[in-house]
Parts: sequence; C-alpha cells; structure tokens
Amino acid sequence: MAYPKTEQALNQIVADLTQAHMVVHQHHWYMLGHRFIKLHFYLDKVMAELADQQDTVAERLIEINGSPISTYEEVLDATKIPDQKGSWDLSMDERFQIILDAYKTIRDDYEEGIKVSAAEGDDSTNDMLIEFHTAVEKRIWLLAAELGQRPGAGE
Ligand SMILES: [Fe+2]
Repeated sequence: MAYPKTEQALNQIVADLTQAHMVVHQHHWYMLGHRFIKLHFYLDKVMAELADQQDTVAERLIEINGSPISTYEEVLDATKIPDQKGSWDLSMDERFQIILDAYKTIRDDYEEGIKVSAAEGDDSTNDMLIEFHTAVEKRIWLLAAELGQRPGAGE
C-alpha cells in the first residue's frame, strides 16, 4: 500500500484547510458593521467545518502511512491561500470574497486529490475527498450567494 501522490495531495489540503481556518478566524474577529451579528456567528459554523475536515484528512493521511503537516512554518510554506495581516478597514463583502476565494482553493485541492487517489487506487481516500468536495461546493454556493454572485462567478 503506497499512495505517494495521494499523500502529497492530502498534505496540500491539510495546509490549505489550516490556513483557511486562520483566515476565517481573522475576519470573524475583525469584522465590523452591518450584518455583524449574523455573519460573526455564521463564521463559527464555517470554522467548525474546516476544522473537522482538517482533522479527518490529516488522520486519513496517517492511515496511509503519511505524515501530516503540523507546524505553522510548514503551513505557510505549503499553503496557496494568502496570509494577510488583520485589518479593521475591510467591508463585509471584501471579507467574504477573501473567504470565498479560500474555499475555491480548497475545492481545487479536493479535485486534485480525487484525481490522484483514483489513479493510485486509494478508494477510501477517494470516497472521503468526494464527500468533502461536495460540502465545499455547497459552502461556495452559500458564500457566493451572500455576495450576490453565482458560485462560478469570475472563474
Ligand atoms: Fe468566536
């Protein structure tokens, strides 16, 4: 049982889920203004989803003899999601666009993972990734709709 490309794809997902969690936390803390009460608490749900997927993907990686990324340095080195200092000056829409873009990166990661795990014959990882990809596509729809966009806008 050796799935080297799947291991690599899972670590990319772990890195991007970890970074996305920090990005969402930042906007959960720094947001101000109209819709605060609704959106601040909505982001708790988003973070719970990201944390659950992160843990499950990292543990699956261990099950196939891999070693998950587990330091901030490794996350920053691997993630494709930008790391920006917190700002009080962004609008709600700007914050939600940043979160939506992070989710689209994670969706692309899942699509890569689905492809390589199928090619390597790791059916259980493939099944897990398809389930999470479906959940991420739903979240993308919800976040895009909040911004008045179709889910595929700008792609
Ligand atoms: Fe909170």
